[in-house]
Amino acid sequence: MSVSVISAAMEQNLSQGSLIRRMFEAGIELRKTYGADAVCDFSLGNPDLAPPAEAAQAMKELAARMSEPAILGYMPNGGFAWAREKLAAWLSKQQKTPLEARHVMLGCGAAGVMNAFFHTVLEPGDEVLVSAPFFGEYRFYGQNHGGILKSVPCRRDDFGPDAAALEAAVTPRTRALIVNSPNNPSGAVYSEEDLKALAAMLEGASRRIGRPIYLISDEPYRFLAYDGIEVPAVLPLYDHAVIISSFAKNYGLAGERVGYIALNPAMEQAGVLMDGLIFSNRVLGFVNPPVVGQYLMAGCLGTSTEKALAVYTKRRNTLAAILADAGYEYVLPKGSFYFFPKAPGGDDNAIVERLTQNLVLAVPSSGFGGYPGHFRLSFAVEDAVIERSAEGFRKALRG
Ligand SMILES: Cc1ncc(COP(=O)(O)O)c(C=O)c1O
Repeated sequence: MSVSVISAAMEQNLSQGSLIRRMFEAGIELRKTYGADAVCDFSLGNPDLAPPAEAAQAMKELAARMSEPAILGYMPNGGFAWAREKLAAWLSKQQKTPLEARHVMLGCGAAGVMNAFFHTVLEPGDEVLVSAPFFGEYRFYGQNHGGILKSVPCRRDDFGPDAAALEAAVTPRTRALIVNSPNNPSGAVYSEEDLKALAAMLEGASRRIGRPIYLISDEPYRFLAYDGIEVPAVLPLYDHAVIISSFAKNYGLAGERVGYIALNPAMEQAGVLMDGLIFSNRVLGFVNPPVVGQYLMAGCLGTSTEKALAVYTKRRNTLAAILADAGYEYVLPKGSFYFFPKAPGGDDNAIVERLTQNLVLAVPSSGFGGYPGHFRLSFAVEDAVIERSAEGFRKALRG
């Protein structure tokens, strides 16, 4: 009899998470066999740009203070007061909402902050709505804290949110709706009209069920919107809106784990929610981002992301031409750094398999909330990788 060393829930999680892991392992094998330069890996959403020059200056200044007592010591559990103030001032402009330090909290990446949020607001069995396709880890973040993710398919034509279908999915247990725009994996950017419709739907639904349904806007790709498209500010649209985001993608600080949450100050009992969040930050064990990350954030905050946008715009356009040439069908991404083309014949695993045989790594759409019939390509890769992928894409489709 085999002894179970992990819980049944974890066994199930590991088998569900295996799609992206399989791609990762396939990548290692292919590199070993054919050499790293032969493989075109579009599987990971790992930003490859260097942080802004201001990051180096922030590190020099911090290094010069290393002999100060407790310079790397504990701090209040929501982050340094000065870091929260600086973040609040920056977000006030971006979100068109006057925010103070008490309305924002720093945490370990958007992922850590979303865990802290769910830990704070979910009762066992509460439901969290999300439009599919979605970033697959949401399911685990909810489940970590007794929640159940309920997935509702997006609009077919442009991957926008289907407000009527989301409304139909509301039950007395609904606690939150996650929106992610610019979207991973679809590249959609939600219009102000769509967001207003969602806010109006949530107002009505909250009244009906007798408790507020939070609108969580997860927006780490806010800076990546192409062709002059504006990403609307979500905070002013709904009293119970919260922004969860990080500096992983815009300033290339993914490994430094600097994330945050901002609450709409108009929210009833925003102070109680913030107390709960800060407590959760502490007891979940990862607490605030490390001291170094907060100094890096402060140094980078407000620096222009125009150069990064130009780099990704060029990559998007190059890959768009390659895919079109090879005969793939796709909606040109309006934001983020992902393409989400249709799988020929609707079989996402089959096309990913054929691409892998041609040394091009992609992720089947089933990995994004069980959404069928597509595959995801991350163009957070060097231009050279995109340029040499053309033949692999062509051969995978035409043989
Ligand atoms: C949509 C989305 N949300 C959240 C995260 C997690 O971000 P972080 O690294 O800040 O935890 C990611 C990371 O890829 C993401 O794509």
